[in-house]
This record gives sequence, structure tokens and C-alpha cells, in this order.
Amino acid sequence: MEKIIRSKKIIAYKKALKEIDAILAGEEHPILKMSTINCLLKENLPYFFWTGFYLVHKGELVVGPYQGTLGCLHISFGKGVCGTAAQQRKTQLVPDVEKFPGHIACDSRSRSEIVVPVFDTKHQLIAVFDADSTKLAAFDEIDQKYLEKLLNEHFTKKSHKKRSKTTGH
Ligand code: SME
Repeated sequence: MEKIIRSKKIIAYKKALKEIDAILAGEEHPILKMSTINCLLKENLPYFFWTGFYLVHKGELVVGPYQGTLGCLHISFGKGVCGTAAQQRKTQLVPDVEKFPGHIACDSRSRSEIVVPVFDTKHQLIAVFDADSTKLAAFDEIDQKYLEKLLNEHFTKKSHKKRSKTTGH
């Protein structure tokens, strides 16, 4: 199995984030942004097997835009890696999904996972971002750093919401 080289990973993230920033400049619709982010991450990071968002809806998580094999439709807060990230409002890095109590296996080929909470400009939880890999321990603090930065830039930071040519109004 090919090893994921740290320096290559950093280069791939920098390229992905640059492309995403360029494509999403001035865009506001969250589904448009989520779909584009999934596509460009999966294109640039070959160890991403499944990438997608679960949306906060009526007190639970429901599957939103994703790329990969069939995702579970509903996840309760506190359940699985996604529900844990939503409940704790904290990124979950899971090097081996079999060792995470209550992990939900939507596809048994997934071996490791990262889930990052997504907040809007009012710091309300609106979704979680989930990436799965068929490789063990595919995700580490590099993924955490770049994914948190990306999601913060595009969903939480107010300044990113609009592209203004003049005074910002
Ligand atoms: N493994 C996740 C469920 C979502 S899928 O991986 C697409 C979890 O335990 O929450």
C-alpha cells in the first residue's frame, strides 16, 4: 500500500485550498460550496475515499452533498464519529475506525476517518464534514489543520461571505 507522504499532502492541500478559494470567491449558497469543496478535495487528495457533509436538520444529522459510495442517511447527535463531532463541536481524528466505539460503517471499506464540525457566521453548528479513507491512519494533524482552516474560511468567517469591489457594502 502506498504511503501517504507528509510533504506531498501539504502541497496537495495548498493546491486544493487555492483552487477552492478561487472558484468560490463571492459565492454564498452553502450547498454550492459544499459540493465544490467535496469535488476539489477528492480530486487533489487521492486517499479520500468518501467525502461529504452531514447537515444539522430537525435535531439530527442528515446526509448532504457527498462524493463516494452510498452514505448513511440519518445520524443522531452523539452517535458514530459524525454524531460525536457534532455533539462535542470538536474535530474527531480516527486512525482506525474499528477502535472507535459506536463507529457507523456506511461502507466497510473505510478504515480511517476525520470529521470536522462546520459553523456558520453566528457560530451555530450547521453541519459536519466527513472524510473517509480505505487506508489505516490516513488522516493526521495536517488534514485537521487544513480542513479546519478551509471550513472556517468558507462558512464561519464573515469577511469571506461577500466579494466586494468597493467599500464592502
Ligand atoms: N462513519 C461515520 C458515518 C458516516 S460515513 O462514514 C459516510 C460515523 O461513524 O459517523
